[in-house]
Amino acid sequence: MEIDLFLGRFHPLLVHLPIGFIVLTVVIEIIGLFKNDKKIYDRIVQYSLIAVMVSGLITIATGLLLSQGGDYAADTLWQHKWLGIGVVVFSALAYVLKIKIRTYNNKHSIFISSVLIILVGLTGHQGGVLTHGQDYLLAYAPDALKKLAGMDVVDSNKGIQHKNQDSVLIYRDIIQPMFEQKCTTCHNNEKQKGGLDLTAYRHLFIETESGYPIVQSVLEESELFKRISLPLDNKKFMPTKGKPLSYSEIKILDYWINMGADSLAVFDHKNMTPELLQLMIRDYNLDYNPKPYIETIVVEEIGEQKVGILIENGFSVDRLGEDNFLFDVSYDRATIGEEQISLLKEIGDNITTLNLSNCGLTNELLAQLPELKNLTKIDLHSNPISDDAIQQLHRYKHLEVINLYDTEVSNDGLKLLLDIDSLRRLYLWKTKVTQEMVDESSNTANVIIDLGGAI
Ligand code: HEC
Repeated sequence: MEIDLFLGRFHPLLVHLPIGFIVLTVVIEIIGLFKNDKKIYDRIVQYSLIAVMVSGLITIATGLLLSQGGDYAADTLWQHKWLGIGVVVFSALAYVLKIKIRTYNNKHSIFISSVLIILVGLTGHQGGVLTHGQDYLLAYAPDALKKLAGMDVVDSNKGIQHKNQDSVLIYRDIIQPMFEQKCTTCHNNEKQKGGLDLTAYRHLFIETESGYPIVQSVLEESELFKRISLPLDNKKFMPTKGKPLSYSEIKILDYWINMGADSLAVFDHKNMTPELLQLMIRDYNLDYNPKPYIETIVVEEIGEQKVGILIENGFSVDRLGEDNFLFDVSYDRATIGEEQISLLKEIGDNITTLNLSNCGLTNELLAQLPELKNLTKIDLHSNPISDDAIQQLHRYKHLEVINLYDTEVSNDGLKLLLDIDSLRRLYLWKTKVTQEMVDESSNTANVIIDLGGAI
């Protein structure tokens, strides 16, 4: 009932009255310990105990009304209730003892004071747990103290930076810590506002008062997502108090729910928006952009001997990195022939960049180039090759850069070139390709076309 809750909400306010009187009782009892004529002190203590009882009863009544509102963990509530009642009952007992026992002495005083302080302390602590959650008291304690109390110590750096980013689990490493930071003061196993507990993964899919917190892959039906993405001044906006979720956090939740809200889900660049990729770098130092192709491949080691044969035949062969056997190969003599071209077959998988410029390469010779499955860059400039050669280049599935400067290639060739999916950059200065054609193509293709002097 409304009126019950209205009165009930005075509980946290009224509770300070009996506490104050208990403190007064104990202080006066202690002062009395050191006085010979205790009468006046006994009197004050008696009145003070009466005040504890009266204000205590009112506090208990409002507490009982407040507890009707639910939202509280039953165990803790039960303890808090009986401890509270215990305080009042013990005060009554102390009052009776004080009047009835003729031999009331300092030992009695110390006993009664200690019990009152312990009882009121325990009751207050359980009340704190009810309203603020289990870890409330030590939430800001030094880590060492938390460990002593058996609490988890959360690394404030989110612990993400130190991990291999591919092993970052979206729920465990980002979402759960975020709930803990911004939601679990009101949504924990003790206090479940709206019936919602955000301390464990499994609760996310259990029906709460207004629906399901998370419905896998259906953002519009996930109550939790609705609440955090409402306008800030909406009454239902979450969190009701404290720091709202950041833009990145909302986008991560959005992504995670859409991907099925699996507890073991990881980020995958294939279904991340460019914006989310950027946000992950900016806010979490995690770069999920795809790696360049050559960083992803491993090729077999090549013996000195094979490389030696190529060098004898006019090639230079450079290793791209100390830790791999990827090669940058170029032909240095004025004319190339079938014989030299066929030598490339020996180290085909290892060639990632190939320079066959200015060596009299013809369409026919180009057609004899072997399979080079890791080729990413080819330089064919200043050769008598034409559009017919372009079809050959379609064989190389990872070709990103092609230099055809000073060749016979024309607009038709350009069209064929743009069909190469992996292509990113093209050099076409001094060819038959026209500026108009380039302008037109630049609008549709994701390729940078360099036509020399043109800006
Ligand atoms: C200061 C307390 C407080 C904080 C912090 C808080 N909430 Fe709430 N939350 C409430 C209260 C009170 C209700 C119940 C009233 C209502 O439905 O608006 C509620 C209800 C909800 C509900 C609806 C449950 C249902 O089915 O009715 C969701 C979902 C929710 N909160 C999510 C969150 C999320 C996510 C966060 C953290 C970003 C959060 N809350 C932080 C107090 C809080």
